[in-house]
Amino acid sequence: MIMNGQNDPTASAESRELQKQIDYAARVRELNSKKRTPPAAFVETYGCQQNVSDSEKLSGMLRDMGFRLCGSADGADLVIFNTCAVRENAELKVFGNLGALKHKKRKNPDMLIGVCGCMMQQEHIAKTIEKKYKHVDIVFGTHALYRFPQILCEAMSGRTVFDVKDEAGAIHEGAPTERGAKPLAKVPVMYGCNNFCTYCIVPYVRGRERSRTPENILAEVREIADDGYKEVMLLGQNVNSYGAGLDGAPSFAQLLRMVCGVSGIERVRFMTSHPKDLSDELIRAMAEEKKICAQLHLPVQSGSDRVLKAMNRKYTRAEYLEKVRRIREAVPDIVLTTDIIVGFPTETNEDFADTMSLLKEVEYDMIFSFIYSKRVGTPAAEMPDCLTDEEKHRNFDEMLKLQNGISKRKNLKYIGTTQAVLIEGLSKTNAETITGRTEGGKIVNIMCPELTQTQKTAMCGIIRDVLITGAQTWSLSGKLK
Ligand code: SAH
Ligand code: SF4
Ligand code: F3S
Repeated sequence: MIMNGQNDPTASAESRELQKQIDYAARVRELNSKKRTPPAAFVETYGCQQNVSDSEKLSGMLRDMGFRLCGSADGADLVIFNTCAVRENAELKVFGNLGALKHKKRKNPDMLIGVCGCMMQQEHIAKTIEKKYKHVDIVFGTHALYRFPQILCEAMSGRTVFDVKDEAGAIHEGAPTERGAKPLAKVPVMYGCNNFCTYCIVPYVRGRERSRTPENILAEVREIADDGYKEVMLLGQNVNSYGAGLDGAPSFAQLLRMVCGVSGIERVRFMTSHPKDLSDELIRAMAEEKKICAQLHLPVQSGSDRVLKAMNRKYTRAEYLEKVRRIREAVPDIVLTTDIIVGFPTETNEDFADTMSLLKEVEYDMIFSFIYSKRVGTPAAEMPDCLTDEEKHRNFDEMLKLQNGISKRKNLKYIGTTQAVLIEGLSKTNAETITGRTEGGKIVNIMCPELTQTQKTAMCGIIRDVLITGAQTWSLSGKLK
């Protein structure tokens, strides 16, 4: 279909904008078609699944504009860093890698370098790049992602582009997407966050919550299923508040049930759930819908009520534990994971002990733990520290030790059981092994020396019964039944 919104007075602003970007994409395609070979583009992604999903759109647009996607900055004509601002070490990594690109650009002055994503939504960072990283040609924020064809077209005409306006993020549908490997596809259902946890930069860089319409989400899931994907991961900073502000929208639980209705899709997961919004309706849907995987990532952040309050998490330890009890009652074999912050400002060793006791009480399958990182502009950045860096690191190590023991113990219980494993692919480290995931999301390495490479590849995307014969801290191993 050729859309021409610019000449149609009834076309909505959104479709006119889409048409404008389609026109810019055509111009870039034309510039590229004059080159001897398609230019190579490399997209490097930092941060969470949301950024991975955004990079799939950047890559889809790049391919549509006549680029060839490549796996490293070496020899690339265009390099894009899609950045994350959640912790300082993520930012330092970007600055380090950007510095290293200076030499590559000296050797290949025609190389274009772009930086986008969450870091660029912070004014002080965008200014630093502008002043100190003169070899960068393109800077744009998360809200400008849909304008990428226009931004690139201008940069290819020799201009340095800084597109970091202070704008409310809107939803722009219709960008081509270069999806990750089968069988798992990611589908964003909502963007942004309204929760303002006091340590977190995400609401500042991603803007307020806004949800995609169920029609658009379902159309994308159907497309994915037709394309042969078997599993979808619905994405949002807080999927449980899906639909807020969208007239007549279903609840997240209802949306999940609709997605389960798409034939061809066999497994449905979602990330992330804020504990305060985990509803009984969602728990019921998880218990009733076979396709919803028995897995829940439920970030607790701390086991101390005082710290939870200072974090503005809006639940108490007891309320959180009650939700865990209810979900385990409804879905007994659920795999539970969480996020923890160690060394939040004002956290004492007693608060930390509360977190340790919560870990012992809940017995998560796995935790993602982070040492607190000060983020400019967030309320926690103004709060005083109680613990020294040394104490924080000691606590962090102690926590990992505790959790590694719990994770290993939980995995050992799987030995001798049969698990339905969705095969994802060949192992990267062992030619005789294929890997996949249980319904709970645990990685299973399956030894199958009896199969040829072709047979192994053909199994990708198929759910097979696997007898679990071994357990490690982070994964299981087994054999096909
Ligand atoms: N929306 C998701 C998480 C987004 S960020 C949620 O609410 O769970 C992922 C994790 O990074 C958070 O759960 C938190 O544990 C951690 N995190 C966020 N800001 C941080 C900071 N300033 N320092 C250390 N860890 C942080
Ligand atoms: Fe950050 Fe809290 Fe929003 Fe998660 S819910 S993105 S931790 S502010
Ligand atoms: Fe990082 Fe942005 Fe995600 S700050 S964690 S990439 S939303």
